[in-house]
Amino acid sequence: MKQCLFKIVLVAFACHAFGADSPREHLTLDANWKFHLGDDWPNALRLDKAGASGGPAAVRFNDQDWRTLDLPHDWAIELPFDSSADALHGYKPVGPKFPTNSVGWYRRTFDLSQEDSGKRLWLTFDGVFREATIWVNGWFVKHHEGGYYPFREDITDVVRFGDKNLITVKLDASKFEGWYYEGAGICRHVWLDKTAPVAIAPDGIFVYSKFAGNLPADKAEIQVEIRLLNPQTNDAEAMVKGEIISPEGKSVAKFKKSKDVTGGGEQTVKLETQVSSPVLWSPEIPKLYRLVTTVEVGGKMVDRQETEFGIRTFAFDANKGFLLNGQPYVIKGTCNHQDHAGVGEATPDALLIFRVARLKEMGCNAYRVAHNPPMPELLDACDRLGMIFMDENRLLGSDSENLRKLENQIRRDRNHACVAIWSICNEELQQQSATDGQVGLTMQNLVKRLDPTRPVTAAENTGDVYSGLMQTIEVRGWNYYLGPGVDNYHTKHPDQPNLGTEQASTVGTRGIYADDKARGYVQCYDVDKVPSWGNSAEVWWSFFAARPWLSGGFVWTGFDYRGEPTPYEWPCISSHFGILDTCGFPKDNFYYYQSWWTTNIVLHLLPHWNWPGKEGQEIRVDALSNCQQVELFLNGASLGRQTMKPNSKLTWQVKYAPGTLSAKGFDAAGKVIAETKVETTGDATQIQLTPDRKTINANGEDVAVFTVSALDAQGRAVPVAQNKINFAIAGAGKILGVGNGDPSCHEPDTLIAPPLVQSISVNDWRWKLTPLPQGGAVAPEYAPGFDDAAWNQFKPKPDGNANDLFLREHETAIYRAHVTLTEADLASPEIRLRFPGIDNHGWVYVNNQFVGESHDWSAQPVFEIRSLLQAGDNVIAVGVKNDDGEGGLKSGVRVELKLKPQALPWSRSLFNGLAQVIVQSTREAGEIKLTANADGLQTATATVTAQTSAGRPSVP
Ligand code: GAL
Repeated sequence: MKQCLFKIVLVAFACHAFGADSPREHLTLDANWKFHLGDDWPNALRLDKAGASGGPAAVRFNDQDWRTLDLPHDWAIELPFDSSADALHGYKPVGPKFPTNSVGWYRRTFDLSQEDSGKRLWLTFDGVFREATIWVNGWFVKHHEGGYYPFREDITDVVRFGDKNLITVKLDASKFEGWYYEGAGICRHVWLDKTAPVAIAPDGIFVYSKFAGNLPADKAEIQVEIRLLNPQTNDAEAMVKGEIISPEGKSVAKFKKSKDVTGGGEQTVKLETQVSSPVLWSPEIPKLYRLVTTVEVGGKMVDRQETEFGIRTFAFDANKGFLLNGQPYVIKGTCNHQDHAGVGEATPDALLIFRVARLKEMGCNAYRVAHNPPMPELLDACDRLGMIFMDENRLLGSDSENLRKLENQIRRDRNHACVAIWSICNEELQQQSATDGQVGLTMQNLVKRLDPTRPVTAAENTGDVYSGLMQTIEVRGWNYYLGPGVDNYHTKHPDQPNLGTEQASTVGTRGIYADDKARGYVQCYDVDKVPSWGNSAEVWWSFFAARPWLSGGFVWTGFDYRGEPTPYEWPCISSHFGILDTCGFPKDNFYYYQSWWTTNIVLHLLPHWNWPGKEGQEIRVDALSNCQQVELFLNGASLGRQTMKPNSKLTWQVKYAPGTLSAKGFDAAGKVIAETKVETTGDATQIQLTPDRKTINANGEDVAVFTVSALDAQGRAVPVAQNKINFAIAGAGKILGVGNGDPSCHEPDTLIAPPLVQSISVNDWRWKLTPLPQGGAVAPEYAPGFDDAAWNQFKPKPDGNANDLFLREHETAIYRAHVTLTEADLASPEIRLRFPGIDNHGWVYVNNQFVGESHDWSAQPVFEIRSLLQAGDNVIAVGVKNDDGEGGLKSGVRVELKLKPQALPWSRSLFNGLAQVIVQSTREAGEIKLTANADGLQTATATVTAQTSAGRPSVP
């Protein structure tokens, strides 16, 4: 099943082309960003003058020293846990109390060829946390607030064609938006789109299917709306052509329309066609159609885009509940935040697919993203793997800014086959008043205007209350409050459809069978009603299963997430609500849902059977199963057969004796249809490594997820093993992060390679007051052979920095020094020249060749100089101009040789027998070998192959 799901997705990724002859380029801008943590340039943004921002926003700012990384990136995950930090945000020292950790800077340079001039350029951020200031080439282009909303800007005016360009991003994560881990950084993808001047607007395609009476029939009507932009001064007559490609790759409809687009304006072209005998999309058969849109002006193609969509109907009926393709279809959903073990909010696309696939194995058919717009790639995964989606807005609010964000979200997401319903908010404090209802109505009306095909809900925790938002919302959302109030509400408002937008909130720690407050663990029998508003899986699901008009619902949550460590606090740093832990390892409740949400035969026993010291004591044993009857055995002796009621589970009290606890499941005819066992294992003797896939793409983005477990001498998984495992990686991959699902583990999820350098001091400087050539031109004094014997010797005074500075106001000077390097030194992959300071301006030369300049007296400029060096003597020369006060070159100049990176000491303790390693491909094809070792255990290795892959078109 797993393999098959991935195959579908990978084939689908290959379809994301724009056509070789289309001028449109949709390029990923994820690779090779420079990053710096800290609010070191608070005044970078100039409010008095345009295009002249300072600090890292300035083109000539030197970021050589910043860390290089690829997006998505979450710097919060890299910070150590801190007991004084916010519990709800997972005790990471970021946010209101930690200003020094809460501002991050990113810079990315890219080249644009002269041939691009005349095109429009759009810069798109899928989401950053949280408040962004963006510059291009020193020009302020965007201020954006909101950690999860996409935003974009037309940057055509400020880019330089035939030249280098710079994007600078300042992110301020010092405010929280939620009450859960939110990360910090550019946590989603960044894109550069190049289009012809007349082109389809960003998110300018809307395609949807319609059937008479919203009931699937022989012919689906296909409605298409294309928004065209024409920023030119002259009008353009655009011919818009559409072609629909079936899931089997056949062209099934072609249609076209021409329209004048006035200069400086935009125009929406509406087209329609029909598809006969449509293949309907569903979670079980997630077949997608493709709309190929081309735009021609003067007979020449100016744009081409492909859009996947599904043909299907969704409806919420007040009596029948949710209807998919006209048939009642129970929503078996989970709510989820974005974060995952090892990577935080910076979840690679392949990990989103991994997570959706895990949920599907459990029988989950619907995903609610909590409580914010999703990553678009999550919607792709749900379209392609088959998972209904509830797409949620962050906050209730009808102010123009909130409506603008909501509109962007809907325009971006409305083509997705999986999206069945929009949610405008979650558990607002304001829900019951007429004002709350009016605000919700304005939002709902906007949604309906942008998308006539889907209903709107809100996640409401008000119980049996019909006023305000509950009154105006189309589909009444139910967060918790099970009981007679729900039935009463339905009786009193029989025309309003309902949906269990959030339920359960039961807690449990994987592999734990007794509460342990000190360690922050909760037992997994799912018996206590913790927290007070929550219900066990059995209670909430039995309630909903008996009331089909409720449409089914969404469990809080599918996966554990950082923060909200209910019912405990420190040392507990992540939640216990998940049916799966933060790594995606199933807890016992996974099998409860699998029993009642799938047609598979399921038989699962809990707890594990390793209880030394408890011999003779009673232990509760549960069977999670959908068999009609289950019989339990201890070491072959029957402990009785019990009959299973639908949506329930079975329980025995068993006097512990080591050995084998086993069970048989019977069907209605009394035939054995399932068997399972749990054995008392020996101590762990060996490690096992199991990758989720054998082959991944060598595109620098794809990941393989390795499960780490410990086996005893007989090869049985040891459910209580807590060994600390060390990892080493070789070949075409790198470890992104590690996890183990332990909600109280403070081991680091990720490691950052420290910069390893060998430092050579550059001493014996000579200097002379002299005029400098204009604009950094070469002076004879910069030449290696120049005789500087008569110049002043630069002798730093022993009493501190400022006294190194010999230049007075408006003086200029040249400084020279020699450094000797060996062939071995030159083998270093990077060699940098580091200055403690050049006050105010400096032009730097190595062996008479210009290296770079510095214009900030407070900066410590660094220059890459490897290509200019030779074995033996090298001459460094710096022209310095002082504007005011004392100035000059500060002492302590160094040449730094970057050393070969040391292998990082990756490790993770097993938590109740399991850990996880997330390995990402590089852009090289080849084998990736992961090795795991631990004291006293036999080492394990496992390999996956990174296969050549074109990867997404990217900005070099
Ligand atoms: C809900 C809320 C969720 C989460 C959950 C925990 O009320 O919507 O975000 O906090 O409680 O039980």
